[in-house]
Amino acid sequence: MFYDWKDEYLIGIASIDHQHQKLFMMVKVLHGYIESGDTALVMKNFLKELITYTETHFSDEEKYMKEIGLPENLYQQHAAEHIDLMNQVKAIKTDYDSAHKVFTPKLINFLVDWLRNHIVHTDTKISQFLSKRTG
Ligand SMILES: [Fe+2]
Repeated sequence: MFYDWKDEYLIGIASIDHQHQKLFMMVKVLHGYIESGDTALVMKNFLKELITYTETHFSDEEKYMKEIGLPENLYQQHAAEHIDLMNQVKAIKTDYDSAHKVFTPKLINFLVDWLRNHIVHTDTKISQFLSKRTG
């Protein structure tokens, strides 16, 4: 399925790849909840869990970029994408909490598209930097 993990998303840094795989697994679980029309509470709690895990992942990734000395402009661009996603996901959650909107497959499309684009275009810059550095 479109939301399944694919090895082409590997960036070659085990700790980050592992967290990306976990994020895809979580999106798949969320998709399952939406498909089976699971209770609002289950989905709400799960979205909270997804936000927490994503925040942990972003902060680990940012720490790693600092550790390896990624140039500041690349770091800033990258971190800005993380902030942007968190703002969007939090807005979705607020919408849901206040207006009791229903999660739809559109949410899954949005998350999967974001993850794929970010991994392929932005996260890979971390490994490109590493391979250039080590020659
Ligand atoms: Fe990232």
